[in-house]
Amino acid sequence: MNAIGEMKEAVLRIEVCLSVLKDLHYRASGSAFYGLHIMAGKLVDEFRGYSDDVKENGFIEYGIPTDFEFQNDLVAMLKTLGLDEGEVGNEGLLERVNKALSDLNVFLQGRNSGNTSAGMMNLFGGIAEGVEKATFFVNRSI
Ligand SMILES: [Fe+2]
Repeated sequence: MNAIGEMKEAVLRIEVCLSVLKDLHYRASGSAFYGLHIMAGKLVDEFRGYSDDVKENGFIEYGIPTDFEFQNDLVAMLKTLGLDEGEVGNEGLLERVNKALSDLNVFLQGRNSGNTSAGMMNLFGGIAEGVEKATFFVNRSI
């Protein structure tokens, strides 16, 4: 994969995390609702920032327009997480978040296009730290 494909896949995988986090934010229930709602809301804000950062860096360093199309790929990737299987409880919502975070983490660790810019490498490293923290919070909630 070249640096541009890698940058686009990073955005896609961050957006998958955003989608499952928004699901947790709105669909958590029961006595755990408030905590899960607040946690997911904070993580949504963080991950929105990561998506913007990668898009902006992609424009600055590779000249990729920040509004490049990824909706179709996003829908396909969300299907692999079983998001159209109907209602799930808090545990199912948390497991989806955990899986999306883990996939993003594996992707960020394995990046090796050979022509990734130094700025993008730094950005990926910073995001990987944020993903690890998010994974800690999510695992403590399961
Ligand atoms: Fe909200």
